Amino acid sequence: MTALVSATVEAAALRHNLAVVRRLAPNSRVMAVIKANAYGHGLVAVARALDGADAFAVARLEEGVSLRQAGISAPIVLLEGVFDAEQLEAAARFGFELVVHIPEQIEFLRHAPGGATFRIWLKLDSGMNRLGLKGPQFAAAAAALASLACVRQPIRLFTHLACADEPRLAATTEQLERFGAATRGMTGERSVANSAGLLGFPGAQADWVRPGLLLYGVSPLPGSTGSDHGLRPAMTLRSRIIAVKDVAIGEQVGYGGRWTAQRATRLAIAAVGYGDGYPRSLGSGAPVLVNGVRAALAGRVSMDMIGIDVTDLDAPARGDAVILWGEGLPVEEIARRSGTIPYELLCGISQRVAVELR
Ligand SMILES: Cc1ncc(COP(=O)(O)O)c(C=O)c1O
Repeated sequence: MTALVSATVEAAALRHNLAVVRRLAPNSRVMAVIKANAYGHGLVAVARALDGADAFAVARLEEGVSLRQAGISAPIVLLEGVFDAEQLEAAARFGFELVVHIPEQIEFLRHAPGGATFRIWLKLDSGMNRLGLKGPQFAAAAAALASLACVRQPIRLFTHLACADEPRLAATTEQLERFGAATRGMTGERSVANSAGLLGFPGAQADWVRPGLLLYGVSPLPGSTGSDHGLRPAMTLRSRIIAVKDVAIGEQVGYGGRWTAQRATRLAIAAVGYGDGYPRSLGSGAPVLVNGVRAALAGRVSMDMIGIDVTDLDAPARGDAVILWGEGLPVEEIARRSGTIPYELLCGISQRVAVELR
């Protein structure tokens, strides 16, 4: 039985995008960011498809454990580190690399289980004011970590860019300067660039790049799509038409009657809605592909359904394919129209959507 709504993920596209990243940053190793279920693409399946990555990064311990339990043996970095002794013990057992961004995490390491050793990424807060230690605290943490027997030396050094998707702002240059100053004289490998940094700031590539979005074939830069950067969208969200009907001039469609037929209209109802993660904020006029041809939403997005004006299409019928984003319809365009970012749409695919890697 084929699912009515599915997100198909192309392994070949993921690998192609990794190759593009390698061409963009030929002197860096690639830490593939696959947190949040690989941005909705399927954590383990994506890790398997991207087995050419040099390391994986996840946000939470549980994500790393799922990868190890599925047999993924590549280095795995926990981007937020651990938050108690029990998590540190699990990190040792599963061989995770740890980010340190608060002094308490150094205290956990002081009491690490005997014999355990850890690869540490010390995080500088270079201006984002989210995670990381600022200048003097960063230097003190580096010194403290250098003295711990359980820490593999030299420690690695990293920071995260807040505004790399807006290259005209001075913020990124300032962050890079602060990172350069704080790490001067330290020998450990460095990592700075996320997807936007990788595209817009070649000087930020350092020893490791940390792309997420680019690997999924999507552009982090406003006004461009992945294909502008030679990428291929990995995910295509698909549904099918479940009913076709005629609507007379003046009749309204959907909740709130927000769309009124201005002509005799052929309306297709497709099985997808906000219950699948398709945004309700998309109003009438938003594009979908019906049998590969653009058509427009008519009326509000419901929990399980959308209406599509297919009057100008060639005999659309029940069972026909509808693409919500992906192949031929960039998720960047849908995100823009719904007032959000592609990250949120991709991560927001709901549990009832079958995610299939092929
Ligand atoms: C610390 C860190 N590095 C890298 C990334 C990857 O970002 P992007 O998907 O924009 O490449 C993220 C994602 O939010 C992150 O939190």
